[in-house]
Amino acid sequence: MVGCGAIATSIVNAVLKGIINPKVVALYDRHTHKAEKLARLVGAEVCHSIQELVEKELDLVIECASIQAVEEVATRAIESGKDVVVMSVGAFKDPNLYKRLYNLAKRCNRRIYIPSGAIAGIDGIKAASLGEIYEVRLTTVKPLEGLRDALERLGFEVDTISEPTTVFEGTFLEAIEKFPQNINVSLVLYLASNFPTKVKIVVDPKISVNRHEVTVKGSTGTIRTVVENVPSRENPKTSALAAYSVIRLIKDLSEPVLIGT
Ligand SMILES: NC(=O)c1ccc[n+]([C@@H]2O[C@H](COP(=O)([O-])OP(=O)(O)OC[C@H]3O[C@@H](n4cnc5c(N)ncnc54)[C@H](O)[C@@H]3O)[C@@H](O)[C@H]2O)c1
Repeated sequence: MVGCGAIATSIVNAVLKGIINPKVVALYDRHTHKAEKLARLVGAEVCHSIQELVEKELDLVIECASIQAVEEVATRAIESGKDVVVMSVGAFKDPNLYKRLYNLAKRCNRRIYIPSGAIAGIDGIKAASLGEIYEVRLTTVKPLEGLRDALERLGFEVDTISEPTTVFEGTFLEAIEKFPQNINVSLVLYLASNFPTKVKIVVDPKISVNRHEVTVKGSTGTIRTVVENVPSRENPKTSALAAYSVIRLIKDLSEPVLIGT
């Protein structure tokens, strides 16, 4: 795993609890102490660079670090003959990066996995996208702490917000630009539906969950999903379900039967 924060910690905990049983071979974080802490729990090696990690004997590299890490992790992993999971999906706001990695994976006969993350309904949306799609909307409501960093950077007086307040309305591309750590799900929706997603972000000081409402309208009908996610204990920006989506993906890789599209 590259990045040893909230998602990596959840994956390690799932291994320790026996929910999944892969061998965690190697860990890398730009803050070495974070990799060391998790490595001790699962007997993994601590690496000091992405290149060192991808050269180890392993099948799957999991990027759970940051948008900035995606290009290097995915490129080096694929070129070293490994499949890769990308959690920081926001990186694919750059269509050229997506195209480059897509072509590289195809050429090297490797796979890039993008988990559904913190939302529900990606299975149905992927199926519906083979028909015609007319509209894709995402409304995300988060508590103050989950959006505080981004809002302060954008100049909002965060501590004066006492009621539910819409802090963003626009395209998924603008959303990921302004809220790079909070709205990965909009990119997942775009990639699954192949339709430009409209995004609304609301901050609600009274809510304790990360709420994502998705509406997709198309020739197969309408899909509406609402998830109310418990924020991760380690990182309030991340929903516990996002970590479980990659844990499930790891489990599915060794299952003989796959459920859902
Ligand atoms: N797809 C989704 O639905 C979804 C949901 C939640 C989070 N995410 C994304 O997944 C990523 C990880 O989330 P998290 O909650 O575990 O974050 P986190 O902040 O808890 O942990 C990230 C870790 O990665 C390390 N890191 C960051 N950039 C690095 C780099 N270039 N090289 C090496 N280490 C680096 C940090 O030091 C930190 O320890 C974030 O980019 C987040 O936005 C995606």
